[in-house]
Amino acid sequence: MSLIEIKHVNKGYKLGEETVPVLKDINFTVEKGEFVAILGPSGSGKTTLMNIIGCMDVLDSGEYFLNGRAIHEMRESELTQVRNKEIGFIFQNYQLIPTYNVMQNIIMPLLMRGMIHKEAVAQCQDIVKLLGIDHRLGHRPNELSGGQKQRVSIARALASKPSILLADEPTGALDTTSGQEVLKLFCELNEMGNTIVMITHDMNVAKSAKRIVKIIDGELLAEQ
Ligand SMILES: Nc1ncnc2c1ncn2[C@@H]1O[C@H](COP(=O)(O)OP(=O)(O)OP(=O)(O)O)[C@@H](O)[C@H]1O
Ligand SMILES: [Mg+2]
Repeated sequence: MSLIEIKHVNKGYKLGEETVPVLKDINFTVEKGEFVAILGPSGSGKTTLMNIIGCMDVLDSGEYFLNGRAIHEMRESELTQVRNKEIGFIFQNYQLIPTYNVMQNIIMPLLMRGMIHKEAVAQCQDIVKLLGIDHRLGHRPNELSGGQKQRVSIARALASKPSILLADEPTGALDTTSGQEVLKLFCELNEMGNTIVMITHDMNVAKSAKRIVKIIDGELLAEQ
């Protein structure tokens, strides 16, 4: 069984009376342990596809199975549960809470799920060491570099032990060196068994993945 199985998915946006098609008959499979990049120009539908993979948006037609479960048949409440449990999101702009320190940002999703504070902190110890942010735990996001902020957001994503790390332009706000460090980290996390789906418009970024799939004007083309 594949981790992600997307079959004949279509998605459009309503513009007045009309629906503008954005994703057109998408077929896409990801196996557990893969590191895949979805590469495409601006407006090609990358974020729309990521929102569907991340159970943040529903498709118009087609099927989406995640870990064998039929996402396309789920109601909003079920989707929220699956999203929290299965998906670790990483965004271009980090989406950290500015008034929380690093540790609070990382454990917040665990606390929201009812884990006690001590246990949540214990669960994150190895992760913060691995990501080299263990000496920054008391700092607020505005006291960190861009690369450090992204490592905090990766730590937050990993803390919930998701099935997939889903990253939308994770290096988009970083300088070349910090971007390369984040990509190297993704490679290491993948070597450790994490499944990663990374969305980017930049071929040089996509090259870090083990497989590249191109999206052009809402259609997926396999590469290589
Ligand atoms: N909520 C929306 N309502 C209407 N149209 C939308 C909406 N979101 C996206 N679109 C349109 O869908 C198309 C694909 O958008 P999407 O954000 O998925 O592209 P993208 O590949 O992520 O682009 P970028 O690289 O600029 O982030 C675009 O033409 C966009 O204008
Ligand atoms: Mg986008």
